[in-house]
Amino acid sequence: MTSVFINYRRQDSEGYVGRLYDHLLRHFAPQDIFMDVASIEPGQDFVQALDNAVAACDAFVAVIGPQWATVQNEHGERRLDQWNDFVRIEIASAIKQGKLIVPVLVGRARMPAPLDLPEDITALSRRNALELSHGNFASDMERLIAVLKDAAPTKQSFKRGSDSKTYQRKAESLKAVRDDLVNATTSPLYTVRVEGRYFPVLGEGDPDANIMFIGESPGKHEAQQGKPFCGPSGDILDELLRGIGLARESVYITNILLDHPGAKREPTPQELAFYTPFADRIVDIIQPAVIVTLGRFAMQYMLKKLDLPEKRGTITQLHGKLIKARLHYGEIHIVPMYHPAVVLYSASQKDTLKQDFEKLKLFV
Ligand code: URA
Repeated sequence: MTSVFINYRRQDSEGYVGRLYDHLLRHFAPQDIFMDVASIEPGQDFVQALDNAVAACDAFVAVIGPQWATVQNEHGERRLDQWNDFVRIEIASAIKQGKLIVPVLVGRARMPAPLDLPEDITALSRRNALELSHGNFASDMERLIAVLKDAAPTKQSFKRGSDSKTYQRKAESLKAVRDDLVNATTSPLYTVRVEGRYFPVLGEGDPDANIMFIGESPGKHEAQQGKPFCGPSGDILDELLRGIGLARESVYITNILLDHPGAKREPTPQELAFYTPFADRIVDIIQPAVIVTLGRFAMQYMLKKLDLPEKRGTITQLHGKLIKARLHYGEIHIVPMYHPAVVLYSASQKDTLKQDFEKLKLFV
């Protein structure tokens, strides 16, 4: 499913945008249509916040009405020329991030000429525009919807060449990583492991899985059994997987820390530095097409490692998004999700997780 960002000037095209939004709702889920960047917190860099919001979308619709280029501020200056004009900042961000941008002309507006645009958005004038007219609204919308649906993240083939040789090779490589983990006596959590008589938890699942889940750290149950997600969080994860018809054995499940930290707490920078090379090795071996990060630590690690524009986004902004990225073996999607444990503290979050899991059906 495509997520769509609608960029517009209220004074210029609010009425048209309302109609456009209502029509889009027939084809896209409300959480996939982004219209007004909500709640920029006091102290937050608003340029960064707008950048994050644009980054989270697959397609960007710039609605241009008759006053779009000429609307003025209270000092009689053209809005579009101001550095802090949200419309301009969002368009510049979409251009910079290489998003699909569709200018939509309403109210008989014309596409602005390059010379009428500030330098950071002149490239907008090279985008082919689509006209939304009152008379042909339904058919114009159909064209727009077809273009937007085309921007959906590409469905990855399930199980690329899962022949028995590949499977065997990957299983053996994972075993070598497991041996290194077992012998990791310099780990900051080695003493906890020994004193608690815990097992390290490498992960489990299909060594050639198309979808890989990365959680935070093994809990006590997991460390007692040497299995990821087999305690209360695991019950929730299992339910979510079942809900979309995905067999647990067909995916690979691991964590960003591979030893139990001894208590329910966040990973320290030292622990992350020690264990993330293991996670990198696991990804390199399995070569999944989709990496689902569960919780903010796995999300931040992957987005920063891949240096993605979304790397400063919060989990509240990014959960459920399909973020395209490239690894040495090909194109992948990172899909940030809340950690299943949130449901243990707030039952209402289960619906959010369920909705986000629905996105994975694209890859099943
Ligand atoms: N929480 C996690 O992040 N991982 C597990 O394996 C279990 C609980």
